[in-house]
Amino acid sequence: MKHIDIFEVMNNKELIGNNVTVCGWVRTSRDSKNMAFLELNDGTTLKHLQIVIDKEKMSDISEFMKLGTSLLVEGEVVKSVVAQDSVEINAENITVLGSCPAEYPLQKKRHTLEYLRTIPALRVRTNTFNAVFRVRSVVSACIHEFFQNNHYTYIHTPLITASDCEGAGEMFRVTTIGVEDGFKTQDEADAADFFGRRAALSVSGQLEGEVAAMALGKIYTFGPSFRAEKSNTPRHVAEFWHVEPEVAFAELPDIIEIAEALIKHIINTVLEKCPEELKFFDAHFEKGLIEKLRNVVSNNFAVMTYTEAIEKLKSSGKEFKYPVEWGLDLMTEHERYISEEICKRPVFLTDYPKEIKSFYMKQNPDGKTVAATDLLVPGVGEIIGCSEREADIEKLLDAMKIRNMNLEDYEDYISLRRFGSVPHSGFGLGLERIIMYVTGVQNIRDVILYPRTVGSIS
Ligand code: 4AD
Ligand code: MG
Repeated sequence: MKHIDIFEVMNNKELIGNNVTVCGWVRTSRDSKNMAFLELNDGTTLKHLQIVIDKEKMSDISEFMKLGTSLLVEGEVVKSVVAQDSVEINAENITVLGSCPAEYPLQKKRHTLEYLRTIPALRVRTNTFNAVFRVRSVVSACIHEFFQNNHYTYIHTPLITASDCEGAGEMFRVTTIGVEDGFKTQDEADAADFFGRRAALSVSGQLEGEVAAMALGKIYTFGPSFRAEKSNTPRHVAEFWHVEPEVAFAELPDIIEIAEALIKHIINTVLEKCPEELKFFDAHFEKGLIEKLRNVVSNNFAVMTYTEAIEKLKSSGKEFKYPVEWGLDLMTEHERYISEEICKRPVFLTDYPKEIKSFYMKQNPDGKTVAATDLLVPGVGEIIGCSEREADIEKLLDAMKIRNMNLEDYEDYISLRRFGSVPHSGFGLGLERIIMYVTGVQNIRDVILYPRTVGSIS
C-alpha cells in the first residue's frame, strides 16, 4: 500500500503543505458540531497523529470514530492548531480498512497490566507495549552493535542439547515418545527416543560458546534459553532471551569491565534513541527513571565480595524473610537490599561460595569460593550471571565428580582443557531483565510478547 509512516509525518517538517497518505488504527475520537477529530497510530512512533475531519466534506463518519478501526487517510499535512511544534492532517478522503465493533476490549481509559495480560493479541496496541517493544528492539540491535564493533563473532548455539549447563536439572525434555509407547524404564525410553538418548531445551549456550571462543577468541550468543524452574515471580519466565559473550584470555576483572561497558552502552543508546519512550516510562512507571539512567552511565558500578555482603546484610538490622548465612544462596530480597540500600547503584557481587554456584566456575585459591559475579541492580535484582571459567582440567573434573555429573556427556567441554587451555570468562545477560531495568516495568510478563510461565501458556 502506498503510504507514509506516521513517524515520518511527525518528524519531517518538509512535508507541511503536502498531501500524504497514512494508515493506522484509531486510538481516540472526538465529535463536535462541524468537525471531528481522530488520533491515528501506526506503531512507528509513540505519538498519535491527529486527523481533522470537516464534516461537510464527508457524509457518514460514524465508522471512522470507532476505536480500533483501521483506516487509510489521505489529506494535507498542516501545522497543529493547538500544539505548536506538532502537525496534523486535514482529511480529504478516508477509507476503512477494517471495521471494529463497539465492544473492542481496549477502551479510552487506562487498563491495568493484569487485564492487558488477558488480551495478549491486543495489548500490543497500547502505548505501554508500543514503547516496551520499541525499546526492546533498540536494545537488541545495540547489543549486536556493541559486540560487532569490538571484534566479537556472533555464534548460534544449539537449542536442543544433551548436557545441562547450569546443573540445576530444571530443563524441558525434548522427546517424541508418548505414554502409549509403553516403555518399562526411562533408560529404555531414552534409547528409543529421537536422538537415541535423553535431550532437553538448553538453559544456556555457554558450554558450546566456550567451544567457539577457544577458536574465535571473542564470541557472543543471543537467543532463547529455557528454564523449567517453577518460580512464579515477576522476574522469571520459562523462555527468555539470553545474551552470552565468552572471551578468551580474560580473567574475572576483565569480564566485569566488559559487562559494565555493555550495560552502559545499552543505557546510553536507549537514552539517545528512545527519548519519547523514556519520558513515557518516567511518567507512568518509575518516577525519576531518566535521572537514574543518566546517573548509572556516569558512575562506576560497585564491586563487593559475597562475604562482605553477608556481613553487611547481617549487621543491617533489617528483618529478612529468608535466612542470611555465609554459604546460603542470596534471595531476591537480599540482592535488592544490597543494590538498593547498601550500594544504591548496580553492584557486581563477587566470589561466591563454590557450593552454591556452577561446576564450571574457576576455583579461587582460598578453596572455598569461585571467581564468579552476579550483577545486581536496584529494582530488579540479578540481571547478569558471570564467571571466569575453570581452565585447569583436574580442578574441573573434581568439581564435576563432586556434583555426580556424567563426565561422558561433557567430553567436548572437558577436552577444551586438554588442547591449549587458556584463562577465559563469560557472562549471561537476561534481555527481559535489562528491559525491566531501563523501562521501570516491574513484571517480566509485560516486556515479552507472549510470556511463558509456570502453569500459563497462551
Ligand atoms: O545466572 P544464569 O543462570 O547464568 C548462566 O546461564 C550462565 N551460563 C551464563 C554465562 O556465564 N554464560 O543466567 C544468566 C542470566 C541471569 O542473570 C538472568 O538475567 C537471566 O539470565 N535469567 C532469566 N531471565 C528470565 N527468566 C529466567 N527464568 C531466567 N533465568 C536466568
Ligand atoms: Mg544466576
